[in-house]
Amino acid sequence: MSESKQSESKPGISRRRFLTYTIASTAGFLASGVLYPMVRFAIDPMLQKGTETEFVDVGSVDEFGEKPKSVQFNIKRKDGWYEPEEGERATAWVTRNGEDILALSPICKHLGCTVTWEGGGNQDRYYCPCHNGLYERDGVNVPGTPPNAPLDRYAYRVEGGRLLLGPIQRGGGV
Ligand code: FES
Repeated sequence: MSESKQSESKPGISRRRFLTYTIASTAGFLASGVLYPMVRFAIDPMLQKGTETEFVDVGSVDEFGEKPKSVQFNIKRKDGWYEPEEGERATAWVTRNGEDILALSPICKHLGCTVTWEGGGNQDRYYCPCHNGLYERDGVNVPGTPPNAPLDRYAYRVEGGRLLLGPIQRGGGV
């Protein structure tokens, strides 16, 4: 009987298989020690908490009233590695009722088109022309139209009579 046949008939693990497992385990351990710092370095920005967005002055608070007014501004945002030098162009629909300010994102929550105030002949509502989506003045989606969530809101501050808009807060509405 040959040696290999003898080893097959023995219970337990063969010497060759033991060495193979030992070498593979050692190589895997060493490789993980080298790869972990590389992977960690590569994805580190994604592990940072959220994105950093500055607050931007969009005008005097007195400019705004109950009728929604559209403002355009550039926001400096750092998202992982991505930080455009000139900032990103953004738009908000702003209303003010006394001390209360509401700054809505114009991005439709259905499929991302841009809503306009009283567009398409709809009175006192935001209108999305892509699929006839409608939102109330406070950004809440009108039931029975395609959007199934309220428009997002911008965080805001008032400093020295000026309105400053900051990051978008998901899941706006009342
Ligand atoms: S994208 Fe606005 S209703 Fe569809």
